[in-house]
Amino acid sequence: MAPHCSPRFLASDNTSGICPEALDYLLEANACDDLAYGNDSWTQRATDRFRSLFDYDCDVFFVFNGTAANSLTLAAMGQSYHSVICHELAHIETDECGGPEFFSNGAKLLTSAGRHGKLNAEGIEQLVTRRSDIHYPKPRIVSITQATEVGTVYDREELLAIRTVADKYDLRVHMDGARFANACASLEATPAELTWQVGVDALCFSGTKNGLPMGEAVVFFNRELAEDFDYRCKQAGQLASKMRFIAAPWLGLLETGAWLSNASHANAMARYLADGLRGLPGAELMFPTQANSVFVQLPPPVLAQLRERGWTFYTFIGAGGARFVCAWNTTVELLDTLLADIRQALDAS
Ligand SMILES: Cc1ncc(COP(=O)(O)O)c(C=O)c1O
Repeated sequence: MAPHCSPRFLASDNTSGICPEALDYLLEANACDDLAYGNDSWTQRATDRFRSLFDYDCDVFFVFNGTAANSLTLAAMGQSYHSVICHELAHIETDECGGPEFFSNGAKLLTSAGRHGKLNAEGIEQLVTRRSDIHYPKPRIVSITQATEVGTVYDREELLAIRTVADKYDLRVHMDGARFANACASLEATPAELTWQVGVDALCFSGTKNGLPMGEAVVFFNRELAEDFDYRCKQAGQLASKMRFIAAPWLGLLETGAWLSNASHANAMARYLADGLRGLPGAELMFPTQANSVFVQLPPPVLAQLRERGWTFYTFIGAGGARFVCAWNTTVELLDTLLADIRQALDAS
């Protein structure tokens, strides 16, 4: 860590820098000029590598950020008169500024509650069967976030139950994988086991939160949905002319295995923080810590104290409370300092 850095950033995993593996590949890609708009060798290699990672002949596209990935993918999965069923805390509902509705020309999001930030088959079925008349936006897509916005994960049984109800009502399944790597690490499951093998049609796989400078991969397992997706990206301003600088760092994550080790590390750090908080009277964990986010209820004066001491964290995400997110470079020392500051602030409150 550079001496001028005061790393008190735990607001999100996108406050972290670029991991060494991604940076090495980025620099290597910078050594030579190459073709633009994804016609370069790095993009080719990265997309092939995704196919082997998923053990599936999928279509892969790179975009700059998660909002675009979700919005454009959802737009490709349905028509403007369709609806997308998602959890009431879903990022697509709460934090994308209407992007999914905008890019789909008006598809409506229908929200459902569900324990621990997760949709379930009953909630989905209720929304689908609530109405069947022409005046209701026809349900066509289920969107699930893996890991969820509150740091929990869907296990394979839960995913299969969602696929079963999706099959019953002819719904397509979209996965917001902003923290997909963390879910794989948490469940010790392969990417295939958590996607096409449980009927996911399309995945938005975040690299930004996993150690890239920027960049998300949109992975279509249902390849019919990928038709003309390159045009959709271009029209939305998401076709990077120097795509190799997104693809090469991705390749760095995939070839070295850093995508998984980064996620495992971030998850382990979150567990460490949750264990520390559990021992503090006055701190109340809100959800099981199954990925890399920790949600905790703390008295308002304690939150104010922490902010005064320079800690960054969000209180508007999910169901309230303070959210601390660990990343590939979070250290035990940093978390010990945070825990000590929380302990002191609690004692003083
Ligand atoms: C669950 C989830 N989905 C998607 C995103 C992508 O957002 P962005 O457009 O900021 O990359 C985020 C980022 O915080 C997220 O937490």
